[in-house]
Amino acid sequence: MSIEARKHTHISVAIENSVSFETISAGFEDVLVYHDSIPDLNLSDIKTDLKFLKKDISAPIMIDSITGGFTGAEKINKKLAGAAEKENIPFSLGSQRAMIEKPALSYTYKVRDVAPSIPIVGNIGIANLSNELIGKLESALKEIDADALAIHLNPIQEAIQKEGDTYFKHKFDLIDEVCEKIDVPVIIKEVGHGMSIETLKKLEKTKAQFINIAGAGGTSWAKIERLRNNSLSSAFDEDGIPTVVSLVFAKKYTSKKLIASGGVRNGIEIAKSICLGAELGAAAIPFLRAYYSNSVTSLIRQWKSELKNFMFTRNINDIKSLRKLKPKLVGNTKELVDAHIRL
Ligand SMILES: Cc1cc2nc3c(=O)[nH]c(=O)nc-3n(C[C@H](O)[C@H](O)[C@H](O)COP(=O)(O)O)c2cc1C
Repeated sequence: MSIEARKHTHISVAIENSVSFETISAGFEDVLVYHDSIPDLNLSDIKTDLKFLKKDISAPIMIDSITGGFTGAEKINKKLAGAAEKENIPFSLGSQRAMIEKPALSYTYKVRDVAPSIPIVGNIGIANLSNELIGKLESALKEIDADALAIHLNPIQEAIQKEGDTYFKHKFDLIDEVCEKIDVPVIIKEVGHGMSIETLKKLEKTKAQFINIAGAGGTSWAKIERLRNNSLSSAFDEDGIPTVVSLVFAKKYTSKKLIASGGVRNGIEIAKSICLGAELGAAAIPFLRAYYSNSVTSLIRQWKSELKNFMFTRNINDIKSLRKLKPKLVGNTKELVDAHIRL
């Protein structure tokens, strides 16, 4: 199957099926931050703005990498990016491999006409990195006027698909080469299966500035690939490290700036991600579904309002103070974290 056809099928499989983890939760229900019944502020005083990639944004919410590279992807990207611009939050594109291999597809990624001012994040897979591709990355990023590049790590996804690229040997060494050769900061992200302490310790040694956890609990890429390939094996559907567990690991074992994604589903979970040390919370499938129901802007507004209400009821008036809240971990998440580290 061509990359274009594959990219298109990813969208239809993700939209037409339930592709979330069923037995793994992202873990936000185990992150407790109790409310204060006597907050000493007014809801109208709450500020959620912050800086990200040197730009002022209105809230710590990002539309995570989804698509690009087939005819029709430009509609999705422009609508999502246009809503992100309207609400002044960052927007991430899907893997740019297709436009690098076939420059005629560049137009499916270009959104600056509808999103002139927000941070835009480009994307490439670690499996696709080669000296030749790295040579072409800078111009691919310039074409979309990116403020950062996300490099995604997806061994589970690659392993279970027919056309999967499973040549990962020495790819890690190429991360720093990318960081040195391009002008914008690098974010290393998973695709929804989370990051272990071992992975995070390796990433700490790189020149990447950000880590996007993309943990388990939301979209399962193993499930998307199984459905796309009509594969009999569902063995990897529920394989992953929950988002909150990975985020706690990342805070403990790295000094990188963090982004929380994978099963982030409302403004409270965005707020809890910030309390746990993330700069931003991000999501993919909720915004893709909102694209199809014509409700992207209202979903962003809903999450912003939930974030504000959370801050009001916790007596917190800005993002800086939200970062200082110390949540308590309980239940399964605490057990998983305690099994690996002592907080
Ligand atoms: C249809 C679809 C396509 C995606 N394509 C990419 C991609 O090209 N690059 C990438 O890094 N992540 C990609 N992702 C992964 C998301 O960015 C995100 O890490 C993952 O879906 C977990 O977030 P969620 O639970 O909010 O969906 C994609 C996700 C979906 C649902």
